[in-house]
Amino acid sequence: MEKAIAAGKAGEPIVALFGLFGKDEEKTIQQVPQHIAVIMDGNGRWAKKRGMPRKAGHATGAETFRRIATYSKDIGVKYFTVYAFSTENWKRPQDEVDALMNLFRKYLKEAIEDMAKNNVAVRVIGDLHVLPEDIRELIRDCDTVAAKLEDPAYATLCINYGGRDEIKNAVRDIARKVKAGELEPEDITEDTITNHLYTADMPDPDLIIRPSGEIRISNFLLWQSAYAEYYFTDVLWPDFKPEDLDEAIASFHQRQRRFGGV
Ligand code: FPP
Repeated sequence: MEKAIAAGKAGEPIVALFGLFGKDEEKTIQQVPQHIAVIMDGNGRWAKKRGMPRKAGHATGAETFRRIATYSKDIGVKYFTVYAFSTENWKRPQDEVDALMNLFRKYLKEAIEDMAKNNVAVRVIGDLHVLPEDIRELIRDCDTVAAKLEDPAYATLCINYGGRDEIKNAVRDIARKVKAGELEPEDITEDTITNHLYTADMPDPDLIIRPSGEIRISNFLLWQSAYAEYYFTDVLWPDFKPEDLDEAIASFHQRQRRFGGV
C-alpha cells in the first residue's frame, strides 16, 4: 500500500493520510502519534560493520537524530523523545563516553542558536547532577530559550536516564513531602507519581520505536510506557530514515489501542 503523510503543524490537529487515493478510493484520516519515543540502538554495530570506531556510529546516530527529529516535527509529531545515554552507559570505555558528551555539547550549542527559528523546544531529562558542569550550563541555556517559545514542538534527550532511577527519585520526593506533612499517604495517586517524574509536563508516549533488532525495554520510560505501542525493526539507528518512521507510524495505525477496555 502506498502512503503519504501530510505535513502538519506541531500543536494543531494533525492528520496523516494513508492509502493511495484514486477517484473512488476511500480516504482514511488518522492522527499522527502525539508523542514518539526512540531507543537509538545499533550505533556500535553500524560502525563495526564498516571497520570504524564505535564513536563514529554515535556521530552518525546523532545526525540521524537531527534528521528524524526534524521530520517528525514536519509531519506534526508534537513530542519526540530519545534515549541518548542511560544510567548504565557510564560503564562504557571512557573515550566512548567522552565522544557522546561531545556530541551532546555540539547539539545543545546548535539548539540554543536554532530553537527559536524552528520553534522546537529542546529539553534534556534524566539525573543531570552528575553531568559535566558546562553541559549542565548548556541545558540551562536551552531551558531559558525554550521557555520563550510559543506552542513549540518538543525534542527531548534522555541523558543519564534510567526508568527505575526516575521512579526512585519520584518516590523520594513524595516521601519528603509526606515527612514534611505536605501530603497524606492516602492522597498519593497514580497522578501524584506521574507528576513527580522528569516527564511531568509531557503526555505519555503513544509509540516507542526500537531499531537494531533488540526486543526489550532497557529501562526506558517504564512508568510512562504502560499503554504505549512498541515498534521493533532490524534497521540500525544510523541507517534509520524518514521512511522507517512512516512504517512505524503505519504499523501504529494498524493496532487497536484499547487502554484495558474492550
Ligand atoms: C546504543 O547503541 C546507543 C547509545 C548508548 C547512545 C545513543 C546516542 C546517540 C545516537 C548520540 C545522540 C546524540 C545526540 C546529539 C542526540 P549501541 O552503541 O549500544 O549500539 P550497539 O548495540 O550496536 O553496540
